[in-house]
Amino acid sequence: MPALRRSDGVLELGSVSLADIARDPRFGTPTYVYDLDGIAAEAAELKSAFDDAPHLVAYAVKANSAGPIVKVLAATGCGADVVSGAELLLAVACGVPAAQIVFSGVAKTDAELDLAIGVGDSGIGAIQVESVEELPRISARATAVGRVARVSLRINPAVDMQALDTHSYIATGHDEAKFGVPLASVTDALGRIEGDRHLRLVGVGSHVGSQLTATDGYLASASALFTFAREVRARFDLTFVDAGGGFGIDYGDGCPVRPADFMRLTRKLQREMGLDDLALYCEPGRSLVGAHGVLVASVIQRKIALPRRWIMIDAGMNDLMRPALYQARHRIVPVVHAGEAMTAYRVVGPVCESSDDFGVHDLPDSGPRELREVAILDAGAYGYSMASRYNGRALPAEVFLRGGKVLTSTPRGSVDEWVQDRLRAPLS
Ligand code: LLP
Repeated sequence: MPALRRSDGVLELGSVSLADIARDPRFGTPTYVYDLDGIAAEAAELKSAFDDAPHLVAYAVKANSAGPIVKVLAATGCGADVVSGAELLLAVACGVPAAQIVFSGVAKTDAELDLAIGVGDSGIGAIQVESVEELPRISARATAVGRVARVSLRINPAVDMQALDTHSYIATGHDEAKFGVPLASVTDALGRIEGDRHLRLVGVGSHVGSQLTATDGYLASASALFTFAREVRARFDLTFVDAGGGFGIDYGDGCPVRPADFMRLTRKLQREMGLDDLALYCEPGRSLVGAHGVLVASVIQRKIALPRRWIMIDAGMNDLMRPALYQARHRIVPVVHAGEAMTAYRVVGPVCESSDDFGVHDLPDSGPRELREVAILDAGAYGYSMASRYNGRALPAEVFLRGGKVLTSTPRGSVDEWVQDRLRAPLS
């Protein structure tokens, strides 16, 4: 589905030459490039799984919080799943109606709860409660401003961790995870909500993990969630069930299921369990944006110490942390490739860490046209949003494409800005 193709040897995203972007003095490298049309199409395809049934695709803003992206998704009718006050404010500023925002997170501060309760006419759609202990805190904040806080219980469905086909760092719905209300505590949680005039239970939810490339774990979690919803709705006026995010993308090893497949199967289960009158929510992040962004980097130099061959690029683990943090593999391809022979090179960045390593990739040998730039694929999700300024590096630039051209961009951070920032605290 990503609109990546080669034209005369030059890699294009959304019909725009990535060589032109990398060589444009306004952008340079390292630069994230995103195809907004691809992102909008991705959201539309997922929404089609719901037909006309009530639903909410709450985009997990943490995957990529760039304003143009959140705005485009809001314009296609997506809501937002936020995990901080800052993300909440951003979602509102990008046009997401407050009623279509859900707020997850295990440790929301009082200031963040105040924002969630206070925004708009009646606060956000739902604060996703992840512990019993959070309930009296939410109630106190709502009481202070004379409002009723809408909450949903995010349960931890205690899915067997071995059954989740994902990295342990991004599996969340197992019983060792800090996320969600443990099943053993839900009775307590429900009792507290029932007895509290300032809390209203509107939904129940779960989120089992990320980068799921098979539907089993997701459906196991949905089944536990729906069983719970059936019990709860006898006592509470539920309006939605939220099956969470986690739909995987193809990083090169394949991903046979599309986000819409997850939701079609979840809807079927929802119908079978007699919950068809409730709206079905999901919280996709990666799957809406991941494949529609690339990180373009310039080659700084090669280093050959046979049998080892490195290509050193100007993007590092600070720009794209996933390989260093999760041993994730992103395909790396030449931006211009005129058919030169390829050799396996280890691609590394400039950061002083052994983990600043993007793995071994086939890239063109030196030739008449020296390799100038590479594109790191599928970098649209958890790329820029996890970037840091480690080693005094500037945050990368971002370029947003629409309709076959550059629509807008965010400039690269400046090195001087970093120096000034680090000098801000006077010693005396
Ligand atoms: N909802 C909740 C409550 C979440 O915790 C997450 C992701 C999502 C939705 C969205 O999941 P997605 O559809 O993107 O899989 N940085 C990691 C991924 C961390 C995911 C954290 N939670 C990575 O780069 O793989």
